[in-house]
Amino acid sequence: MNKRALPLAKVYGLLETGPVVLLTTTHKGKPNVMTMSWHTMMEFEPPLVGCVVSRNDYSFEALRKTRQCVLNIPTADLAAQVVTCGNTTGRDVDKFEATGLTPVPATFVAAPLIAECFANLECRVADTRLTNRYDFFVLEVLKAWIAPGLKNPRTLHHRGYGAFMIAGDTIRLPSRMR
Ligand SMILES: Cc1cc2nc3c(=O)[nH]c(=O)nc-3n(C[C@H](O)[C@H](O)[C@H](O)COP(=O)(O)O)c2cc1C
Repeated sequence: MNKRALPLAKVYGLLETGPVVLLTTTHKGKPNVMTMSWHTMMEFEPPLVGCVVSRNDYSFEALRKTRQCVLNIPTADLAAQVVTCGNTTGRDVDKFEATGLTPVPATFVAAPLIAECFANLECRVADTRLTNRYDFFVLEVLKAWIAPGLKNPRTLHHRGYGAFMIAGDTIRLPSRMR
């Protein structure tokens, strides 16, 4: 999928609506991907994203040790892969092989971009002060990629227990932000 650079100040608009994301890591040379919906924007620029990655997940140790990841944002056509990545563990499954998702080298981090996702955010771990207590990591987006020309990305929004909403139309309302 062809991408152009997305200005970092616009990254919040990708995440504020809470799309389900695919978090990739590479630990000890092994790439992995997990599904994540517990995330929140914390700052415009540089973009800061808070997220909960459970200590039970294989990705937790990878994130804590390498302090790097990519947040890949899928659209609804990837729903089956999203569910697989959220219901299997990298401890015993190569999820890229299992799902057919394509890992692509990132610019600033060892974790791969997922080619099929319309946006990819390369991140470093900026703060772990709440990690021991809440499994909460603060990520700083170092580089953002977006597929040009996609007007209304049909992102997935988790409603719990396997139910998802799919984003639809965009409406424009007055805003003091541009
Ligand atoms: C829709 C969905 C959203 C999820 N959100 C999160 C999340 O925000 N944080 C988390 O720790 N696990 C979340 N999970 C569960 C992990 O994706 C799951 O435990 C996965 O198996 C972890 O993979 P890993 O062991 O390879 O790291 C979610 C699962 C699904 C299906």
